[in-house]
Amino acid sequence: MSKPEKHGSAVSADVETKTSTSRIPMDHSDVVGPPTIPGAMEYDYTNFYFGAGDDAFALLQPFDDWWSEVKPAGYYLYELPLHTQPGTRVDVEDTKTGEIRRGLVNFASYNYLGLSYRPEVKQAIKDAVDIYGGGSSGSPILSGTTALHRQLAEELAAFKGTEASMIFPTGYSANVGTIAGLMRSGDLIVADQYAHASIVDGMILSKAKSRFFRHNRGDDLDRKLTGFDGKKLVIVEGVYSMDGDVPPLAEIVKVCRKHGARLMIDEAHSTFVFGETGRGVAEDQGFDKDIDIHLGTFSKSLGGQGGFIAGSEQLINYLRGFSRSRFFSCALSPVVVAGLRQALELARQEPELRTKLWKNVAYMQKLLSEAGIPTGDSTSQVIPIMVRDDARIFMMGEELLREGVFINPVKYPAVGKHKSRFRMSISAAHSKEELEEGAAIIRKVLQRYGVCP
Ligand SMILES: Cc1ncc(COP(=O)(O)O)c(C=O)c1O
Repeated sequence: MSKPEKHGSAVSADVETKTSTSRIPMDHSDVVGPPTIPGAMEYDYTNFYFGAGDDAFALLQPFDDWWSEVKPAGYYLYELPLHTQPGTRVDVEDTKTGEIRRGLVNFASYNYLGLSYRPEVKQAIKDAVDIYGGGSSGSPILSGTTALHRQLAEELAAFKGTEASMIFPTGYSANVGTIAGLMRSGDLIVADQYAHASIVDGMILSKAKSRFFRHNRGDDLDRKLTGFDGKKLVIVEGVYSMDGDVPPLAEIVKVCRKHGARLMIDEAHSTFVFGETGRGVAEDQGFDKDIDIHLGTFSKSLGGQGGFIAGSEQLINYLRGFSRSRFFSCALSPVVVAGLRQALELARQEPELRTKLWKNVAYMQKLLSEAGIPTGDSTSQVIPIMVRDDARIFMMGEELLREGVFINPVKYPAVGKHKSRFRMSISAAHSKEELEEGAAIIRKVLQRYGVCP
């Protein structure tokens, strides 16, 4: 399987911190900028995090004022309702005009292997409905575990090559429950600076000392671990969700060993797609056995919902009692679990899906590179289309939607300031024609904004 090899320098390490303002001026007559962009577009969610006043609702009105200005100017491009399954072409509701935009080439879904709508998966779901009904109706600890949950956990452990695995309602809760279930006040957690929000929230909830090392920099991880005596956990991702690059595991593992730190990898975007058998980036780089906690999601490549961890029997046993996000939350619907079991089976039986995915990724990288469109350091199916124009990215997004492409704009605070981008997801299910059509539309729109020649 050939993936595009493009190892670039680490991105700058300006870890984002929260900013605040309590007064939002709504007269923008003094704001200099392109006439078509309201001054309110200079603000973002971070401006509404802290506010003065004793009322817990104090920020609602200023937020509403801001929102009513920026929504028509482009901020509406989120939560657009799909009227179809997340296939390679989708019908999307344009909430600004009320129109349904039909047959858009879809680069926005995480359905990397096209499994969410495979007939076999749909059938398994239908069969399970007849037996189990809609929901689990209980926490996994009490009444919510069905035979299907048990089977999926066993099949997953076998697939990952670990002693055991445990299923969570979401990938988010898998991170929060695992990190906070294991680490305590006085311990140290060090995560890559681009770690997902669910990792960060787990760190906060654990009350352990939390630090971040420069993206993909083993030398900085070494510095951050040095001098700390006590329990240490290091957390990296398999594929970084906004950049599409992967961690240098050889270096990270070496540093962890040096400091006696346990290593956890969040393979939300890389399980089922990377590695000889699809186990993930750890397998791909030959460090499967050096990872203490493997985390993954069912919401991406398997096209379903939920999260999991895989590791030793002891680890899973302990976390069964201490992962509060699982213990105190309803188990995944058995209907979803039935679909996941079938999707896992397809992912195992059809390695050609991964071969096709990497072929598509290489082809899209070629098309974008020929068009002079910058794609950062991605070496995966997540390709950031770097626009670096925070003010106008929504205008571009709106044009892309109307010209025939569904793709999500991402800007601060989800990524750094002036690092705005479109986050492109490639699927094994995309046809060559769809990739070409999508790339041509993206090129045409970005040319208008001077992003590419
Ligand atoms: C790296 C990473 N971890 C965890 C999650 C959360 O997964 P889920 O959407 O299944 O809750 C995501 C979601 O995008 C992610 O990108």
